[in-house]
Amino acid sequence: MKIIDTINGTLSPLPPIWFMRQAGRYLPEYRALRETTSDFISYCLDSEKASEATLQPITRFDFDAAIIFSDILMIPWAMNRNVRFITGEGPKLDPLAHPADLIVPDSAVIMGKLQPVFDAISKTRTRLSDDKALIGFCGAPWTVSTYMIEGGSSRDFATARKWLWQDPAACDQLMDHLVSASIDLLAGKAAAGANILMIFDSWAGVVPSYLRHRFLIDPVAKIISGLRERHIDLPIIAFPKGLSGGFADYVKATGCDVLAVDHTVDPVWLDAHLPKDVVVQGNLDPVVVETGGDALCDAADHIISAFSGRPHIFNLGHGIGQFTPIPHVTQLLNHLRNTYQ
Ligand code: CP3
Repeated sequence: MKIIDTINGTLSPLPPIWFMRQAGRYLPEYRALRETTSDFISYCLDSEKASEATLQPITRFDFDAAIIFSDILMIPWAMNRNVRFITGEGPKLDPLAHPADLIVPDSAVIMGKLQPVFDAISKTRTRLSDDKALIGFCGAPWTVSTYMIEGGSSRDFATARKWLWQDPAACDQLMDHLVSASIDLLAGKAAAGANILMIFDSWAGVVPSYLRHRFLIDPVAKIISGLRERHIDLPIIAFPKGLSGGFADYVKATGCDVLAVDHTVDPVWLDAHLPKDVVVQGNLDPVVVETGGDALCDAADHIISAFSGRPHIFNLGHGIGQFTPIPHVTQLLNHLRNTYQ
């Protein structure tokens, strides 16, 4: 698998390529499949449909990795937080009035409810060709906790942030519950056949730097060390979106194998400030893919050139937008595949 070779340190002119949210609403075949189930959670729990959605972008674009179709909010759903997705409004949950209010079901109960996700992984692994990696994922405890406390998406996560200062011990406890469920989830995904694991910390940028170690780094480090203690050696990608510095420290302290960065990080600066053996994933602005034109190829070339001296997985800086025209994706992939070989 090309992406695994890259993670193991092999440099190649054309990096392995996949896109965050590559299975999603910009694809007509995804929209058609999605219409067959009204409720998003049931759709994620239909292992046949989840497997089909996972494979759609591979069939169409021949990406080097597939990411299992699921969601980071499946853990809160399995913890009975009444997770639902309302069209046009995004996710909604019953908000926790206090971080200590979470009543955690038995791990076996949580994992039993998530069994269809593991089934989707085993089905997909047998359907994928051997040169493609299958990525299993979870949300990082901080990001997942923001949804559980705010009851959905938020502009500045003021309530979740307030609790970090007001009752840090209760927040530690909430993080620990999420750490332990995440270890179980990722271990289950590994056992079902995933080749790489990824931890999405989409709202890492919101945590004040003073609290970064306690609430961003430590929970992710605990997930990774927990997996290693269970002898799960799969490569782990961490995506601390919005992190504004301290990248080398983040990699060292979490123990992740790949650092995924968003499009606000300057690739030339990052390359100069990270040890040369750190594998980087990223970081094209998804909006330039939506825009297309010369800017798209120029911006991609800039990233490839900046990271040419280290192992690099080409990706976007965040998920591909739902209104991205497919010809722009094809333009980008043709450009990369024809220019770098
Ligand atoms: O292709 C893939 O990347 C695999 C599937 C995947 C989804 N969600 C499917 C999905 C992955 C990896 C995620 C992760 C996820 N989910 C994150 C972390 C990554 C990121 O984007 O920052 C977050 C924060 C979530 C929470 C979430 N799920 C939100 C905020 C939404 C609503 C988005 C919207 O615009 O409505 C979702 C729903 C969701 N998850 C969709 C998809 C394809 C869209 C809803 C649909 O198809 O009906």
